[in-house]
Amino acid sequence: MPNIVVVGTQWGDEGKGKIVHLLAKDADVIVRYQGGANAGHTVIDSRAEYTFHMIPSGILHPGKTCILGNGMVIDPAALIDEIELLESQQIAVRENFFISHRAHLILPYHRAIERANEKSKGPRRIGTTGRGIGPSYADKMARTGIRMGDLLDPDLFRATLDQNLAEMNLFFNRVYDTESMDLENIFATYCDFGRRLKSHIVDVSLVINDAIDQSKIVLFEGAQGTHLDVDHGTYPFVTSSSSTAGGACTGTGVGPTRINGVVGVTKAYATRVGSGPFPTELNGDASDGLKTRGREFGATTGRPRRCGWYDAVAVKYAVRVNGLSSLAVTKLDVLDGESEIKVCTSYLHDGTQYTDMPFNEAIMHLCEPVYEVMEGWKTPTSGITSYQQLPEPAKRFIAKIEELAGCKVDIVSTGSREDETIILRNPVTGR
Ligand code: IMP
Repeated sequence: MPNIVVVGTQWGDEGKGKIVHLLAKDADVIVRYQGGANAGHTVIDSRAEYTFHMIPSGILHPGKTCILGNGMVIDPAALIDEIELLESQQIAVRENFFISHRAHLILPYHRAIERANEKSKGPRRIGTTGRGIGPSYADKMARTGIRMGDLLDPDLFRATLDQNLAEMNLFFNRVYDTESMDLENIFATYCDFGRRLKSHIVDVSLVINDAIDQSKIVLFEGAQGTHLDVDHGTYPFVTSSSSTAGGACTGTGVGPTRINGVVGVTKAYATRVGSGPFPTELNGDASDGLKTRGREFGATTGRPRRCGWYDAVAVKYAVRVNGLSSLAVTKLDVLDGESEIKVCTSYLHDGTQYTDMPFNEAIMHLCEPVYEVMEGWKTPTSGITSYQQLPEPAKRFIAKIEELAGCKVDIVSTGSREDETIILRNPVTGR
């Protein structure tokens, strides 16, 4: 049975939450493999509206196991808040929920360092979500990080925290001219978090591989998107983790031979939050129209998203670096009012045409999009559930996405509700 990875093909916010929630129905285990509380999405079902930052929304389906992988960085305070909110909405987060003992912690000094760093960068700031993500991953790579499992060994936790704080406080006092942080306070607070989360902290690689051995279906959920990946994205304007499909292996302890497919979620246009190059970005009314109709405001920070036309260069790149087996196109209905729809097929810079993502940051910032202009459909597609019912120009747009990406479309989403979806082929069941 197929174990599938779901990734974003753009700069995040592609609507992965809805697609994962839909596919989770046919899966047994849903695993988040990177990032932390920088992600966010809302799921509305017949019972209520639920907000997720770390826990896979699969938790809403009874009988599913949900897991936070070792590739994540976890702020235990934010996680406990998320668990408590779900439990207050009668969603059980108990023996159906596991956290990797190898996942790294976000500590108060990570958020403070990030704030100071972003401030000092001026116009080169990344526009992070302010959740301490980058500094926590930096500690992981510098081998000074503290992991979820360390919370269960207070002596070791205290010794590492003491060592880290001694160095951090030097920075705070001498470089950033801010107050020191108090060891006792952080130690006591985090030991308490450890006690509260203890029953969930395990070796998740064992749990997931055992499930696969028993022919259970595992869905791997990526956060952010391909162009925010620390290796393959528009560096340095990226997040600090591996959001592309390869991250599903390193971020969970499951080998690539056990994964059968990768679904790339792509919005019918493009958006980006935070700084960084965005070749098809629109300004003024054109951008405002997409922003309003697409409700393009960040689920985590509330920041308005930058909006632009569909960028086929960016998506073709995502097909390659993720090895996508199919695409899920979301928010088709947001384009309903457009008389013409533009699709970016290459970039131009200084007389050179680029049909692939340029490596050079300066080129990415300055390149001009080359567009193919398509006829709009100017009729509602909202809520359509069968491909045949789509207006002809919308079918041609989907066919163009497939042609330029070199990848077939399995799913088209025509609204935020789960039933507002065209499923040409379910990537999990193959039907
Ligand atoms: P960080 O992940 O908070 O370090 O932010 C790094 C960059 O990634 C910033 O431009 C953020 O706006 C962006 N980012 C992080 N998480 C998300 C997300 O879930 N959706 C969209 N953008 C994100």
